[in-house]
Amino acid sequence: MYKRQFVQNYLKDFDALLTTKTYGEAFAPSNIALVKYWGKRDTDLNLPVTNSLSLSLGNLGAQTKVCYTDQNHDTIIVNGIEADTHSKFSHRLTEFLDAFRPNPQTFYHVETNTNIPIGAGLASSAAGFAALTLALDDFYNWRLPTELLSIFARLGSGSACRSIYTGFVEWQAGTAKDGHDSYAVPITVTWPELCMAVLVVNDQEKYLSSRKAMQQTVSSSILYQSWPQQVEHDLHLMKMAIDQKDFELLGKTAEQNALAMQATMLASWPPILYNQPESLAIIQAIWQMRANDTPVYFTQDAGPNIKLLFLENDMEYIKACFPNAIMVRPFADIP
Ligand code: PMV
Repeated sequence: MYKRQFVQNYLKDFDALLTTKTYGEAFAPSNIALVKYWGKRDTDLNLPVTNSLSLSLGNLGAQTKVCYTDQNHDTIIVNGIEADTHSKFSHRLTEFLDAFRPNPQTFYHVETNTNIPIGAGLASSAAGFAALTLALDDFYNWRLPTELLSIFARLGSGSACRSIYTGFVEWQAGTAKDGHDSYAVPITVTWPELCMAVLVVNDQEKYLSSRKAMQQTVSSSILYQSWPQQVEHDLHLMKMAIDQKDFELLGKTAEQNALAMQATMLASWPPILYNQPESLAIIQAIWQMRANDTPVYFTQDAGPNIKLLFLENDMEYIKACFPNAIMVRPFADIP
């Protein structure tokens, strides 16, 4: 109920929940953190322990439509398939939509199309909740300030607050109990030569959700005590790398941060290990490429998939080494 009170309190000032439109629609990109969000100070409101910094994935993301339905429950269609109303996924969305209902008897029809594999550590939920927030803003014609859209998206999934923007984005953790100062802001630097490639090792739902993995890490990993320091150090270097367009510093900082996050998980009990043999083979191939003077680095989230960071000059070589890679030009492919 707290989420709903929070949202409704803000919407009072925006002629909220009066719509003349038949539906609202929006696109939001996925985002990949270069300095990760790992650990919450409030699990209901998705308030993080530290800041984080991400890169949005250009035209890879979610396109979402929202309107009312006559049914007595929300209907959710993902990539043409109706989600089971009893599934965990539907519950999560319905719980998010509860905060935005004009009254408890009003239900929504949500249709989302993604061009990324769902649940595979490729931030599909971030894109999904951000697109749904933007679609609600369109449906009700609120035209909310982006900080507030970012706060609302965060209530669905923490990292969704960064998917409100394109390019580099920093999520400011904030300190307020209700999270009114915990939102993302864009970093206005464009870097058209910067590329990412997604290597999908496994596109199935991960064995442990990031929500549970975070809780398990925070409550049981002794290495988590040093995580806020690691983030502070890495954020400083990452911002310097972005400012000076120093690719090697960006790549090295992102890779170290991702490995440090994996290390905190490995030191949890029960231990959390998302890597599969293929993930490790890719990591070793990347290190070998660097030993041979190709500047390529990686990052990894709560899953076995690996995301490469490199510059456009090396695109053809990377394609030859990883023929199945999904190539992303975060700045060139902005829709
Ligand atoms: O927003 P969530 O609950 O899906 O958590 C995302 C966590 C990571 O992807 C591992 C890191 C991040 O900052 O996106």
